[in-house]
Amino acid sequence: MAHGINSFELNTGKYIPSVGLGTGMMDPTLVATVISTAIKVGYRHIDCAQAYNNQIEIGYALKKLFDEGVVKREDLWITSKLWCTDHDPEDVPKALDRTLQELQLQYLDLYLIHWPVRMKKGSVGINPENLIQPDIPSTWRAMEALYDSGKARAIGVSNFSSKKLQDLLEIVRVPPAVNQVELHPVWQQPKLHAFCESKGIHLSGFSPLGSPAFLKTDILKHPIINIVAEKLEKMPAQVALRWGLQMGHSVLPKSTNEERIKGNFDIFDWSIPDDLINKLSEIKQERLIKVTGVFVHESYGGYKNAEELWDGE
Ligand code: A2P
Repeated sequence: MAHGINSFELNTGKYIPSVGLGTGMMDPTLVATVISTAIKVGYRHIDCAQAYNNQIEIGYALKKLFDEGVVKREDLWITSKLWCTDHDPEDVPKALDRTLQELQLQYLDLYLIHWPVRMKKGSVGINPENLIQPDIPSTWRAMEALYDSGKARAIGVSNFSSKKLQDLLEIVRVPPAVNQVELHPVWQQPKLHAFCESKGIHLSGFSPLGSPAFLKTDILKHPIINIVAEKLEKMPAQVALRWGLQMGHSVLPKSTNEERIKGNFDIFDWSIPDDLINKLSEIKQERLIKVTGVFVHESYGGYKNAEELWDGE
């Protein structure tokens, strides 16, 4: 496979396909069809998580595609994530085994710590009373053992600030290959981008379209994104995704609609010129995915406020 902007090299030497299908909040009854459509369109990267509660259905879809010879396991990149209730080092390998069983796979291409947030073992639901103090170094050592075992061919984190990454880098034997965070033209995270670049950590962007169905702000209606889209005769979503690729980020758009699944993948044979990239950098910045009241609580867990979770970023 030609690399270019279709994939990015990680610090493991492996290449991550630059466009992955996001599966968060995706209805389990739709996900099998969506996966099959995406693979047939050309997607080779699927972003999963235990917390999305649809890995069993994704596993069935993948097995069918492998059995029918549509795609081979070795040609796919499958990511999943360790949930906050499984941070205890003895739970980390069990959580990966459960994910592998659900996905019907022998290994993952990438396994991430989903949040720098810890919840009581076995607790169900996102209730602040379940939050406890994280101990990232001990969880990371268990992640490193999964890397050694070959069951996770790369390991990384998600929702880590530059400071949390720096703290992690001070204790690692195997450095994180990826940090997966909210990234799009309205939340470009230039400080985190520069930090990750300097440390050889690949940034992957979730909600690269700004999750328009779930949030008040619809970035796809942003006037500057629309001006750029009109100039290039592209869809606003394609501009948002292509911006990510040109920053060197992989992007993880979600869609259950065949036309949009195709459109979101049609971003390789054109580019946004520098002057329009500069125009996109003028957009007023705003973090859209807010987790205050969920992962942040004045009495429980590791972070009293959003400032502590994101370290001011
Ligand atoms: P749909 O499934 O109907 O396509 P994000 O990946 O940022 O979380 O955004 C996902 C949301 O964006 C989904 O609600 C999805 O709806 C919508 N979406 C995906 N692709 C496009 C597109 N090309 N144009 C507009 N909305 C899109």
